Amino acid sequence: MIAFGDSKRLLPHSNFNSNSNPNPPSGSPPLRERVFSGIQPTGELHLGNYFGAIRTWVHLQEGYDCVYCIVDYHAITVDYDPKELPRRTLAMAMDLLACGIDPERSILFVQSHVPEHTELAWIFNCFASYGDLTRMTQFKEKAKEEEFVSAGLFDYPVLQAADILLYRASRVPVGEDQLQHLELTRDIARRFNHRLGEEFFPEPEPILSEAPRIMSPADPTQKMSKSLGEKHYIGLMEPEDSIYRKIRTAVTDIGPRGSEMSPGVRNLFLILKLTAPEGVYRELEGEYHEGSLKYIKLKEVVYEHLMEHLRPIRERRQKLEEEPDQVREILQEGAARARAIAQENMRRVRELVGVGAGALR
Ligand code: TYM
Repeated sequence: MIAFGDSKRLLPHSNFNSNSNPNPPSGSPPLRERVFSGIQPTGELHLGNYFGAIRTWVHLQEGYDCVYCIVDYHAITVDYDPKELPRRTLAMAMDLLACGIDPERSILFVQSHVPEHTELAWIFNCFASYGDLTRMTQFKEKAKEEEFVSAGLFDYPVLQAADILLYRASRVPVGEDQLQHLELTRDIARRFNHRLGEEFFPEPEPILSEAPRIMSPADPTQKMSKSLGEKHYIGLMEPEDSIYRKIRTAVTDIGPRGSEMSPGVRNLFLILKLTAPEGVYRELEGEYHEGSLKYIKLKEVVYEHLMEHLRPIRERRQKLEEEPDQVREILQEGAARARAIAQENMRRVRELVGVGAGALR
């Protein structure tokens, strides 16, 4: 695994997939190493998504061939509103663009616009182990929340593996909650290559940010997430007074004790580290260890620096709201570029598997 702070390991290799695919047999390998990641169109990006993954997506654009996807097929694995979904998909595209995803440098597209994702997912169903899928913690957790547990929810990680490997991506920037799915992706790639006798797929490695797990302000023993409810996440585009309230009421503890921070205080310090100049962070950390820090002060400073960090993103998002057609065009163009890669790779996959009209020739 690679941590984002480890800049040396992040430098792209000149040699595509040097560890697993020294001599790609077909398709044109990208000149730079390929990064792939995805996000569900939940309607609103929160600080966990942003600091856990999206900020890394933005940084990686510097040195990698990046493919970023809004995964609407994943969003329909649980109860959802089909009328709302397109609006949420477009809103997520706007959020990502506002955060700094640059459609000139990266491919940004919607999963369902490239049908090869589901085609490869079916093939991977036959290379994924049923036993492994039953052990996925995210499935077990989500299944508890749902009245109707769909087969799609069970199969969710297989579609995720197809997303990544369809582009033969070797790096995947994600939060900690996705590591098990990445492990499964590597297993599928390995099994496919072994059974079909060709090192076609790389075994992709995760890239974790400095904040692989941002916690809920209302219950810092749980990760920040929309599914827990309104008070458990802070949206990037949320009204300022609402963000202020959530930080002011964030769970801490009764006061600094020893060197071990409680989960809530650690979470606030983490947000401070991600948004404030180092000097500000160090000063408050010093006060914490001296036992003189008032949490109300910590919260005020966190709020101030967080808002400063978010301000340009929020402003860009506001402008994009007025240009939905431009965003639709970006997604259309992104899908065309993604599809060109997907089609080329699927041609070889069908050949290897022995399916498709081409196999009969
Ligand atoms: P999703 O949509 O739940 O979340 C998007 C990204 O945000 C990260 N994340 C967090 N990071 C730190 N702290 C948190 N509290 C937090 N909450 C969310 C997630 O780890 C993720 O990186 N299954 C994926 C979507 C997906 C995907 C893919 C990802 C589909 N296909 C292929 C990578 C590659 C998901 O549900 O992410």
